[in-house]
Amino acid sequence: MRRIASLLTVLAIAGCGAGERGAPEEAAAATGNGREELLGPFLAAHWQLPVPAQGPAPEGWTPLESSLAPESCGACHPQQLADWSRSLHAGAYSPGFAGQLIEGALSDPAEVRACQTCHAPLEEQQPWNAAGAPNPHADEALRAQGIVCASCHVREHRRYGPPRREGVAAAPEPAPHGGFEVRSEYQQARFCATCHQFFDDAGVNGKPVENTFVEWRESPHAARGETCQSCHMPDRRHLWRGIHDPEMVRGATEVELAPGALAGPRLEATLVLHSHGVGHRFPSYVTPRVFLDLWQVDAAGAELEGTRDRSVIGRELDFSTEPWGEVFDTRIAPGGSARLDYAEPRHPAAAALVGRVLVDPDFHYRDVFRELADAYESPEARAAIQEAYRRTTESSYVLGEVRRPLPGAAGG
Ligand code: HEC
Ligand code: HEC
Ligand code: HEC
Ligand code: HEC
Ligand code: HEC
Repeated sequence: MRRIASLLTVLAIAGCGAGERGAPEEAAAATGNGREELLGPFLAAHWQLPVPAQGPAPEGWTPLESSLAPESCGACHPQQLADWSRSLHAGAYSPGFAGQLIEGALSDPAEVRACQTCHAPLEEQQPWNAAGAPNPHADEALRAQGIVCASCHVREHRRYGPPRREGVAAAPEPAPHGGFEVRSEYQQARFCATCHQFFDDAGVNGKPVENTFVEWRESPHAARGETCQSCHMPDRRHLWRGIHDPEMVRGATEVELAPGALAGPRLEATLVLHSHGVGHRFPSYVTPRVFLDLWQVDAAGAELEGTRDRSVIGRELDFSTEPWGEVFDTRIAPGGSARLDYAEPRHPAAAALVGRVLVDPDFHYRDVFRELADAYESPEARAAIQEAYRRTTESSYVLGEVRRPLPGAAGG
């Protein structure tokens, strides 16, 4: 029990893992997130994780057809390779991820496999087999490539994909890699659920720690037939842009400063962040934060002390209690908005009111990596986590900023 309790703390620190589990059936009934029910029979079998070893390639296949390396697929599918290489799926074996598997509680063979479930899911990417012995199929180079093409498309060397595009003819026989099996599931949102949704899990305050699929299912976007792929793979592109991509988020939101009382000695205004194009809560995960700020500036644009109001958008959990608690959940529902109501005395030097929305995609990880960098002894683990920490200091961006001159201000 002790070991389990301390392990849960580590999982919580990592911001990942299965989290608290209630009795599976009760939990699924309460929150509607049963695995089989959500995935359906094909995907429940397709997403056995880790993906079982592919075995020997069919007789007569060329080395290129038999290879699981993304560059090999890219010899014939260059567009998908170019896109994927820039995506966070290709980067899923990141320094912040890999660094945690080198020493400490997560370096145990069983934990390494559990963590790699979603970050480097092929059996050929596992350093240890299920029994904890060195894996004879292990390919270290493939492991470092994260969520490779084969994770989604290849089982026992057979290719699976969506229906051919309209107007595209089948390749002449014999087609490379024996052609492919058409599956409509590739065009459905539940295809993505296996790694972006916790199953059979009552979660915290009735919501699993990863709940993106269920949030989407209840959204107006789902009702309109917009899937994860519609927004994250438009025209079947393999970019998977999300909260780390400012343009993606700008295209789905609006920042507005609603007019208020700006003439008197007391300034009143409302900063509104509207989410019209996010298919789940914004943000969906417990790891990012979004900050709404309003403050007064002088004629030179400098912030005037004591005039700043802030509201925080996100889901804050308390991992120190048993069971975990929810401190707040201010995430924006699809189609909804968040607001910061400002009411402060006007500073004598005030020339304008400034409103800003800041997105911090790696809010949770910054502190985690700082703590881990101090805790690790192995130089390799430290270096990886320091690099991960550095990345978290560069990922924040201003989503939108508005400035309203105040009446009667010099130079306003
Ligand atoms: C030698 C060239 C070649 C290589 C290497 C290759 N493919 Fe293909 N692939 C093709 C061709 C040609 C087709 C179209 C087959 C058809 O029309 O029946 C195809 C079809 C596919 C499809 C189905 C596309 C659709 O419309 O749904 C997927 C998915 C796919 N390949 C994935 C992969 C992956 C993943 C790899 C690497 C592990 C790979 N391929 C390696 C040539 C190749
Ligand atoms: C159920 C699938 C799943 C499992 C299992 C999982 N992760 Fe993740 N992980 C994700 C997803 C999805 C994200 C991106 C969303 C986020 O930041 O929370 C992520 C993000 C991360 C990040 C931040 C991004 C980065 O690469 O630096 C780290 C670090 C991480 N995971 C570590 C771990 C560790 C350590 C484990 C094992 C304890 C683990 N994960 C297990 C799905 C998973
Ligand atoms: C995370 C899962 C995932 C990964 C990783 C992935 N794909 Fe795909 N791929 C999909 C999905 C889902 C679709 C169908 C999208 C749709 O229909 O909207 C698709 C479609 C395709 C198609 C059909 C494209 C078309 O224009 O008709 C090909 C070919 C393909 N993928 C090859 C690859 C290759 C090569 C890689 C690696 C470089 C790769 N995929 C990585 C999920 C993935
Ligand atoms: C095998 C597990 C797996 C599957 C399947 C998968 N993902 Fe992911 N996805 C991840 C992990 C892990 C990350 C985080 C990688 C990191 O940053 O370390 C991620 C990251 C993302 C991101 C980037 C989020 C950000 O922080 O900006 C988007 C968007 C995304 N996935 C969408 C999808 C969609 C859409 C599908 C279905 C077509 C899908 N994923 C299927 C595991 C998966
Ligand atoms: C209507 C468009 C739309 C749909 C549908 C949609 N997303 Fe997103 N998604 C976005 C936008 C925009 C963002 C960036 C803002 C944000 O982080 O919420 C995003 C962000 C993300 C992220 C980043 C992590 C986070 O905390 O937000 C992941 C992962 C993700 N989406 C996965 C999915 C999956 C899986 C599905 C399907 C179950 C899906 N999305 C459906 C538009 C969409």
